[in-house]
Amino acid sequence: MKDNYEIKKDFPLLVNSSIAYLDSGATTQKPRCVIDAVENFYLNTNANPHRGVYKLSVDATTELADARHNVASFVNANDDEIVFTKNATEALNLLAYSYALENLEKGDEVVISIMEHHSNLVPWQKITKLKGATLKYLYIDKNYQIPDSELKKITQKTKIVSVLSVSNVLGTINDINKITKVAHENNAIMIVDLSQSIAHMPFDVKTSDVDFAVFGSHKMYGPLGVGVLYGKKQLLESMQPFIMGGDMIEYVYEQDTTFAPLPNKFEAGTQDIASIVGLSKAIDYIKSIGYQNIRKIEENLINYTINSLKNLNFVEIYATDDVNKISSVISFNVSGIHSHDVSTILDDNNICVRSGNHCAQPLLRYLGLDSTLRISLAIYNTKEDIDKLIDALKKTYDMFKKYLEK
Ligand code: ALA
Repeated sequence: MKDNYEIKKDFPLLVNSSIAYLDSGATTQKPRCVIDAVENFYLNTNANPHRGVYKLSVDATTELADARHNVASFVNANDDEIVFTKNATEALNLLAYSYALENLEKGDEVVISIMEHHSNLVPWQKITKLKGATLKYLYIDKNYQIPDSELKKITQKTKIVSVLSVSNVLGTINDINKITKVAHENNAIMIVDLSQSIAHMPFDVKTSDVDFAVFGSHKMYGPLGVGVLYGKKQLLESMQPFIMGGDMIEYVYEQDTTFAPLPNKFEAGTQDIASIVGLSKAIDYIKSIGYQNIRKIEENLINYTINSLKNLNFVEIYATDDVNKISSVISFNVSGIHSHDVSTILDDNNICVRSGNHCAQPLLRYLGLDSTLRISLAIYNTKEDIDKLIDALKKTYDMFKKYLEK
């Protein structure tokens, strides 16, 4: 089994630089095999799928179908239940416009968590306002988890529950199976945003029984520009398309159109096939490392990071104390210094971390914070990356200390 040091050699950008890349929650680096797959598509198979009857176009169509099959089996879905979008955000907007706009009525409720990324929050604000429905929140406790008591907010009035599997700020792992069960007991549909978990832990759409799931390729070692929407077939079939145009139609008349069968109905316009092929290769790569090995590597790193940060008396960490409930994201602040200032100094030391509100302003406001520093780990990170970070944090604090004491 490959360890993280071996794995790091698969990532050209990391091999060719001396950075400690600790921002994989924003986007992961790409392994050589993914970069090669994208290049190979452009070198050998580039044509527009579904359009031409010539061999090259047929080859592109076959690559697209094979990639869809690989994505589908990765989450245990059927091929026609996988829709390619631009990113997870577009997939969530598709659900807001194609499902919620059609199905919500005045007085209905949509339930999300206070941890949501803006992409799983702003679309629901928009649609609930348009339909006279109410947007409700599951709040977290002092241990940064959603307590069971919050799930009572899901009632017969709830029509949609949409929750992320892992918080992009706190790293908290949510119990999606439990939330799905409560949603279904109340006849609501369940949407899960897998953006921050798909690179770290497996997801099975059938055993979880979620109605919809979304994730993005670029946070799971795949190329930018592709998102995935999974939906139960009968739900997708009942929905109207979100974006209209070529390839999503059956017949077009002057005044009316009939739509193509799934999944094309939701895939208007030319798709980013090279990136879809790259995503499929990223899935092969994750499978070759194995989720068990991924968890082992990342769990060691999470423990090491949290323990190292805890030794710094000028750092405040915002993470649950149950390490089994943390994925690979850790937020913290350096006492008295704004996260952007710390991040800039870390950058001078070749360390990449995210700072700010992480597209989760309601969560930060709820926590009484205006920003945090965020480390997000991946399988190529090493203890040396963390040591480098800790040294730089000490230097930063020493540099600012004299001003803070005044
Ligand atoms: N959603 C990405 C993040 O949390 C961009 O950084």
